Amino acid sequence: MKMKIAIIGCGNMGMAFARSFLQYELVNKDQLLLVEKNDHRCAILKAARDGIVINTINAELKDYELIILAVKPQDFEELAEELKDKLEPSQIVLSIMAGITIKKIQEKLNHKSVIRAMPNTPGMLGMGITGFTSAEGISIARLFKVENLINATGRSIYLEDESLLDAVTALSGSGPAYFYYFVKHMVEAGKKMGFDEGTAQLLVKQTMLGAYHLINNAELSLDDLIKAVASKGGTTEAALNIFNSHHMDDIIIEAVLGAEKRSRELSR
Ligand SMILES: NC(=O)c1ccc[n+]([C@@H]2O[C@H](COP(=O)([O-])OP(=O)(O)OC[C@H]3O[C@@H](n4cnc5c(N)ncnc54)[C@H](OP(=O)(O)O)[C@@H]3O)[C@@H](O)[C@H]2O)c1
Repeated sequence: MKMKIAIIGCGNMGMAFARSFLQYELVNKDQLLLVEKNDHRCAILKAARDGIVINTINAELKDYELIILAVKPQDFEELAEELKDKLEPSQIVLSIMAGITIKKIQEKLNHKSVIRAMPNTPGMLGMGITGFTSAEGISIARLFKVENLINATGRSIYLEDESLLDAVTALSGSGPAYFYYFVKHMVEAGKKMGFDEGTAQLLVKQTMLGAYHLINNAELSLDDLIKAVASKGGTTEAALNIFNSHHMDDIIIEAVLGAEKRSRELSR
């Protein structure tokens, strides 16, 4: 039996979820409620006909088994005021908002059945990774249903310990931006060496794609993969020496831990 799903906040992530569910036929368009308060986005969603589109929560919401909260964290308090008297105890709330704990969601919504997930933007292409955890009292069967839905956006891992969601946020939630940052500066280096933007991008992006597949398929450790490119006294070693002289390894670790710390601060 397919779940009836409502998504509140239909921006990048909300619609990444909606489109993945539709692509894998996990929901029917007439059983997908899209609540979007931004008039411009609302008009676009209505034209796209991906579901039933409304701009404020109404009594219809009680017919939906799963309510997904995909507004920005700073919009949650206002949303909670609108939502708290409209939930049925049997409904499941799935939050993908960064940094808002299950406890806080339960308190603000006066609702027990809350699942919290941290996806990432490659979920838009079905290539995301989501960490998720759940409040007590949600049956395994219902949890599996939600996991199946999340897996339409890529892969997922269930975490017993909610506090690890801060680490998920720092590694995979923010991770795509670290990767784009590295790609951007490699492309800049390519341009400095004489390539036009398009050629530099092609060289860097195809390198990243190929290297990603080698990580997954070569049955070598990351250190061995590095050694296989960096011969003694060669060009790669020259670049790695510069990374090491700037303690790039420490910088990367410090940056990711900084993201985790910020996620913890936002949770308070
Ligand atoms: N982007 C990421 O990489 C990422 C990764 C993991 C998790 N997340 C989480 O996903 C959530 C959504 O992020 P996003 O990037 O998709 O944000 P977004 O593109 O800004 O989408 C949120 C949408 O919700 C609308 N909205 C705000 N309050 C509403 C309400 N009360 N009812 C209905 N709609 C409402 C917003 O309208 P207005 O624009 O008019 O305010 C906006 O169109 C955030 O909580 C974020 O922490 C994001």
